[in-house]
Amino acid sequence: METISIDLDNKGYSIHIESNLLARIPTLLDPADSWAVITDEMVNSLYGQSLLENWPSDLVHMIMLPVGEAVKSLQTVEEVAGKMLELGMTRHSAVLALGGGVVGDVAGFCASIYMRGIRYIQVPTTLLAQVDSSVGGKTGVNLPQGKNIMGSFYQPQGVFIDTQTLSTLPKRHLISGMGEVIKYGVIYDYEFLGYLGSHMADILNLEEAVIKNVIRRCCEIKAEVVAKDEKEQGLRKILNCGHTVGHALEAARKYRQYTHGEAVLIGLYVETLMAEKIGLIDEDYCNEILDLVQKTGIDVKFEVPLERLIRSMLKDKKNRARRVSFILPSGKGETSEVFLTEQEALGLLRML
Ligand code: NAD
Ligand code: GLY
Repeated sequence: METISIDLDNKGYSIHIESNLLARIPTLLDPADSWAVITDEMVNSLYGQSLLENWPSDLVHMIMLPVGEAVKSLQTVEEVAGKMLELGMTRHSAVLALGGGVVGDVAGFCASIYMRGIRYIQVPTTLLAQVDSSVGGKTGVNLPQGKNIMGSFYQPQGVFIDTQTLSTLPKRHLISGMGEVIKYGVIYDYEFLGYLGSHMADILNLEEAVIKNVIRRCCEIKAEVVAKDEKEQGLRKILNCGHTVGHALEAARKYRQYTHGEAVLIGLYVETLMAEKIGLIDEDYCNEILDLVQKTGIDVKFEVPLERLIRSMLKDKKNRARRVSFILPSGKGETSEVFLTEQEALGLLRML
């Protein structure tokens, strides 16, 4: 088993990566009074049994959520917390999130506020969750007015990644995960970007050694960034490269057209073009990133009117003094934060 440590004063933890790990997870956990496994209906049908195989049934309760982004709501949080109370869960109970980023965000948020906070474990089953959302302690849900508006920084006690679970992931969600994967190369590690370029087919075919390498490198980068800036006061903002445009696209389409990862892929494409247009990167490097994004098979064309996109960007959490914040590539493995007024951003997007 590969293990990566995330170094955070009293809150450090390990990320474990292995294939066929699910059934062993219960034997690797610190004891708790009882456990709530929070999952969604799809993931439960595929992996619920394997996880429960070695777990005494009187200790563990399943809480099932419907599939999809719409479940990331305060109403769900209230329902889940109500069930946890009915099940007799105490401050010495714990939560295990089994699923993609949606399940992980909801379960982590519930754990962070149930009886003022109980332990939780992340067991991510999508590529996006394995390389990004399960690590770093961002939890939360959406309001009708905006994404991830209600949330907390609350670190899990451990992350267990069973790479075998990716074998059942629909291709669309595998490609989505590549949005966050390519992001790590762009923001932090040019060599890794090259590796992705030369191994894209292996990644999309889930070639075991390659996919493990990719997940490990992404988790290492995220662990380094989060250890230096847990609460996003500075450095951690780089993890939002591609996300200003990405989040705006998701919102403009009411979270129905694009998955988060698809929107990030298109966001990376557009923000790379923006960076080249304002002279932050040269044409060759720009094309290298654009080619890599397109190698995933994503269609980068979008039909959202630019004025609409800008209106969504004006609600971005990184903005300051009504200027929109973009984390743009500014060198190989480097980014810069650029603030643009509404008019400047619109003008630039119109030029692309
Ligand atoms: P998701 O959780 O909706 O999962 C995608 C789909 O895949 C779902 O239908 C799910 O049932 C299914 N699924 C999950 N694992 C499967 C498997 N192994 N086999 C077959 N089907 C499987 O989507 P996601 O892309 O994992 O996560 C997106 C969410 O993550 C968004 O809400 C986004 O905001 C959030 N996110 C959070 C962070 C963070 O730091 N907390 C970072 C990035 C994204
Ligand atoms: N996905 C962005 C972050 O964790 O900070």
